[in-house]
Amino acid sequence: MEELEHLENKIKEADDLKILESVRIEIFGKKGVLAKEFARMKEIPNEEKKAFAQKLNTLKAKLTELFDAKKMALEAAAIEAMMAKEGVDVTMYRAHAASGGLHPVAETMNRIIDYFVSMNFAIEEGPFVDDDFHNFEALNLPKHHPARDMQDTFYLRDGMLLRTHTSSVQIHTMQKQKPPVRIISPGSVFRRDFDLTHTPMFHQVEGLMVDEEGKISFAHLKWILEDFLRYMFGDVKVRFRPSFFPFTEPSTEVDISCIFCGAEGCRVCSQTGWLEVLGSGMVDPNVFKAVGYENVSGYAFGLGVERFAMLIHRIGDLRSLFEGDLRLLEQFQ
Ligand code: DAH
Repeated sequence: MEELEHLENKIKEADDLKILESVRIEIFGKKGVLAKEFARMKEIPNEEKKAFAQKLNTLKAKLTELFDAKKMALEAAAIEAMMAKEGVDVTMYRAHAASGGLHPVAETMNRIIDYFVSMNFAIEEGPFVDDDFHNFEALNLPKHHPARDMQDTFYLRDGMLLRTHTSSVQIHTMQKQKPPVRIISPGSVFRRDFDLTHTPMFHQVEGLMVDEEGKISFAHLKWILEDFLRYMFGDVKVRFRPSFFPFTEPSTEVDISCIFCGAEGCRVCSQTGWLEVLGSGMVDPNVFKAVGYENVSGYAFGLGVERFAMLIHRIGDLRSLFEGDLRLLEQFQ
């Protein structure tokens, strides 16, 4: 019984859970102090047994209470310590928390898609790795056609290549679907080119509208491109300039009045007052022939998304769009 004080102190002085556990074994364990005391009951004369047992039980109750309280306190302290070390203060205020933003190319792409989806165009995606037929031949670009040189192609094994434009998706779509067709095809394209205005990978959006002969005219093309370009660039003038593409006849390149100088003439528009933004035309009959379409007419157009993004955000160097420099991206949140 004299050990009472000594045991109480042992519990009180335990300053972590490990020590407390060894104290628990020492006091309450099978071979612990209390077990030994209870075992002594046998040796105690009968008339003293009751008082002895009472004392022992009181002692046990007191020690148990002390132990439980100590254990709770140490556990709470351990949780506190862990929270202090690993915890997150969700109420903490940070004035300059970094937030993400869309890359200007993705944002511009989304805007282009939004416009054409609102006009009921479906979205088609073709393969990046394609064959000569879909990327060139069926688009009225036969082998040795000089216009192939304009597109520095990445050739792969077995006559395959990385598509140089999304025009290839025109062919895939018409092969799997009967007219009418009303699609845009957004996606990456690849060319062996790298300088201030070219990167080996960039993005295009192709458009294609086909219906029965005579239903689709150049007027439809002109209307939708004007409407689209004003949606993208605001109140601009739009000009259709005769040009050549193998897959369209007639073909036009489309210019908008320079958004930098209000068509006064500046460095960006090379003093012309105009900025070229896309290519378009009426689908060449040879393209329809290649996919087995008869008695149809249609228009097609194609544009470069990076060019749109650069004009809209006034970005000077195309390559900066692909450098992953956060300082550029931070400007577009
Ligand atoms: N495929 C052309 C290019 O990559 C863009 C283009 C021009 C697509 C005229 C067309 C079009 O559908 O009609 O430069």
